[in-house]
Amino acid sequence: MNPLDLARPDIRALQPYSSARMEARGGTILLNANESPWPPFAGDEDWSRYPDPQPAALVARLASLYGVGEGQLLVGRGSDEGIDLLVRAFCAAGRDAVLISPPTFGMYAVCARVQGAEVVEVPLRRDFALDVDAVFAAVTPAVKLVFVCAPNNPTGAGVPRAAILRLVELLAGRALVVVDEAYIEFADPNGACGSVADCVGGFENLVVLRTLSKAWALAGVRVGTLLADGRVIGLLRKLMPPYPLPVPCAVAALNALSAEGGRTTRERIGTVCRERKRMGEALATLACVRAVLPSQANFLTLRLGDAGTAKAALLDAGVVVRDVRRYPMLEDALRITLGTPAENDRMLEVLDGVRGTLLERPTAATAEQPA
Ligand SMILES: Cc1ncc(COP(=O)(O)O)c(C=O)c1O
Repeated sequence: MNPLDLARPDIRALQPYSSARMEARGGTILLNANESPWPPFAGDEDWSRYPDPQPAALVARLASLYGVGEGQLLVGRGSDEGIDLLVRAFCAAGRDAVLISPPTFGMYAVCARVQGAEVVEVPLRRDFALDVDAVFAAVTPAVKLVFVCAPNNPTGAGVPRAAILRLVELLAGRALVVVDEAYIEFADPNGACGSVADCVGGFENLVVLRTLSKAWALAGVRVGTLLADGRVIGLLRKLMPPYPLPVPCAVAALNALSAEGGRTTRERIGTVCRERKRMGEALATLACVRAVLPSQANFLTLRLGDAGTAKAALLDAGVVVRDVRRYPMLEDALRITLGTPAENDRMLEVLDGVRGTLLERPTAATAEQPA
């Protein structure tokens, strides 16, 4: 099956913009792109020239990091750009749809609605696990993209590889399964919920989104990578602006991805995972906390006796957390990113001071303990 059979016919037929940088490479006197021949008043000499649309060194490094071929990869401005490109390429306004499993990351639905695509919702199960059979049953011919956030934001729950791959197989020829692995570096490496990036070559309808914004500490630089069948990559490149990656961003990404950067990142991932365990255990003992959801990400989502009071107490102390009460099934919850050990200690201290808000701590039998 050709995954492009699911794409918008008008996008498949689109003649993309051909930039000066794409048309001519090499040469020493560059008079083809209407750039300034002088370096900028302040800044690097390279900045006066348009950047490589897909910087070769960065593409090579990311392909090796994620274990895919260079033709199976697209670098863009964060995973957010990958989500947007997919929706625009595969969903015709007023006709096609995406499928999401709430509570989940909000950008899938926002991008779909901006595009005029319908959003089909198949809620997570009560234990926050992905309901593969219900998702499969809800995929009509209009649904072109099924988003799976693994680990999920805002619950933190990992998604078993086996469940994802079963869904990918079930939907072969019917829809692309887009696995958003923004937090995968924090998942237990020996657990069942590891990355499916290694499967991209084996399934034409599997797309994986990775980012340097979380574990690699580059949220401000905006570099994300989409891994997919080469035909999907080729289609998305047609839609992308000609020069998506600013030169300083590509340089910053390559620096972070150096051998030394990799060592530092691995150490920090270890710290985050230790802090997740330490904080998870400590928070669970607090009077104001009803439950700590099991997390495979760099945050913990807490059910509280009174989330509003806890949030206000934290804010008074200068600690900003994410209020996730607007999400279904999380009406009493806050999401707290794991910071440095000292920041986490401070957060814990403040929450320890939030008293008298718990009406009834759920017993082991009634507490929701997501898998
Ligand atoms: C699940 C998920 N996907 C994607 C993103 C966006 O990532 P990026 O910074 O790569 O655009 C986020 C940001 O919080 C996220 O939580």
